[in-house]
Amino acid sequence: MKAFDQPLARGTRTVVAIARHPLHPMLVTFPIAFFVAVLGTDLAFWYLNDPFWARASLWLLGGGLVMGGLAAVAGTVELLVVGGIRRRPAGWNHFVMAVMLLAVEFVNWWYRLPDAPASIVPGGLCLSALGVVLVAAAGWMGAHLIFEHQVAIAPDAERTKVAGAVSGPVRSGSKTVQ
Ligand code: HEM
Repeated sequence: MKAFDQPLARGTRTVVAIARHPLHPMLVTFPIAFFVAVLGTDLAFWYLNDPFWARASLWLLGGGLVMGGLAAVAGTVELLVVGGIRRRPAGWNHFVMAVMLLAVEFVNWWYRLPDAPASIVPGGLCLSALGVVLVAAAGWMGAHLIFEHQVAIAPDAERTKVAGAVSGPVRSGSKTVQ
């Protein structure tokens, strides 16, 4: 319980990583790109009425869900295992927004399965537009974790060790969380 009295320091370790580079930020680029592109392919279908664009939307949604699912697994492990992330409300806010995004995009994909071209105007298009809003919100909150809280960024003391630059004082604000 004593840990809860302490203010949270900036910087945390990362556990789902390759050579200390967190996997989650590498994976999220795919669902972000795919879910934004779906709005473009839906609009292209609406304008051109070519079923190619309806199929493209379906594949983009499927790809986004697979890669978003992998990103969600990596992010959830970080959230649950790293105390410095788990104790931050910002981490949970991002989690809720990301789960809402994946749920909406799953409905968007499922709804189109029986007849992709017939499902786009207006239902699919509305879901894709909502998806873009949720991508922006979830992405913003994720980036807030990195740039404001310095989550998954090695604390200064650790970075100094990695760089081998052991001489000189460690910068202020470098208290480690875990
Ligand atoms: C659903 C479960 C999710 C959880 C628990 C989660 C958790 C996290 C955590 C802990 C971080 C900090 C980096 C790290 O520790 O690896 C992060 C960053 C981020 N997340 Fe998520 N995330 C989830 C899903 C998503 C999804 C689906 C997206 C995008 C569509 C997303 C977008 C981002 C972005 C853009 C960052 C910042 C990356 C950077 O600026 O380098 N997250 N997330």
